[in-house]
Amino acid sequence: MFREKLGEYINKIDTHLHTLLDSKEGLIYEAMRYSLYAGGKRIRPVLTLACCEALGGDMEAALSYACAIEMIHTYSLIHDDLPCMDNDDLRRGKPTNHIVYGEATAVLSGDALLNYACESVLTADIKDSKMQLDALKIIYTASGAEGMIGGQIMDMEAEVTQIDAETLSLLHKKKTGALICASAALGAVSAGKDPAIFEKYALSLGLAFQIRDDILDIEGDVETFGKPILSDEKNSKTTYVTLYGMDGAKEILKEETQNAIDSLHFLGTKGEFLKELALYLLDRKN
Ligand code: IPE
Ligand code: IPE
Ligand code: MG
Ligand code: MG
Ligand code: MG
Repeated sequence: MFREKLGEYINKIDTHLHTLLDSKEGLIYEAMRYSLYAGGKRIRPVLTLACCEALGGDMEAALSYACAIEMIHTYSLIHDDLPCMDNDDLRRGKPTNHIVYGEATAVLSGDALLNYACESVLTADIKDSKMQLDALKIIYTASGAEGMIGGQIMDMEAEVTQIDAETLSLLHKKKTGALICASAALGAVSAGKDPAIFEKYALSLGLAFQIRDDILDIEGDVETFGKPILSDEKNSKTTYVTLYGMDGAKEILKEETQNAIDSLHFLGTKGEFLKELALYLLDRKN
């Protein structure tokens, strides 16, 4: 049931992304498509659709916002892999964008995905202009200097200074949590509900998601993970594993997953998919 529903959401997302990008010609679109179609898990856009559906919202609007978030997430990965950042050569099981297209095109394809995310929302056939404005505000606050980019900066700073647990939690909240919170909030917005309705769930899920990523960076199998192992060690990152040890990190991962699930009581049976999603991410292998 969960797997089927997950597959349905992913199909919707992939079909919409193909509609938005496949007819476009030229190197920049080729490089954008290369990373966008490389095989991401689509967790963020799935979250938007699932939150929308749990509240009985407008699925067409949610799909447009979901794809915008996936474009921004993909751009963040292209830039994150660059030699000036994490310097990684494998992503989603394939050579990273800059390995295939060169650094300049990789930078530009990331930039272009960021722009196209906004263009695609603005040109979507969504009549409710307040909903559109609310959605764009959420997307662009979460991806900017207060959100994902702010987290990436903290992550870089933490390579050269020792950071404490509180700072690491804030770093994860921004770097990974912000886009995950935005994804859930967009589902709520497309249902005309308070964007903060899923905040507790998404904050815990986001933290759990990055802790699992930090664990897989050590314990993962490169073939399944689809990106290099020990990238964090290579870049001297502070992670949940370096601060709490492997067992400690796994304990916090479990606690945060439970916190996410506990926050869903208000949805009753409508929260089932979101609960299963949290459990699926708890021991994901990629
Ligand atoms: C990777 O995100 C970056 C992190 C925030 C840990 P995902 O694990 O969602 O990557 P894809 O989209 O499936 O490739
Ligand atoms: C990056 O975190 C999250 C982004 C905002 C791109 P990581 O550097 O840990 O992500 P991976 O492990 O390369 O996917
Ligand atoms: Mg990084
Ligand atoms: Mg990285
Ligand atoms: Mg990582």
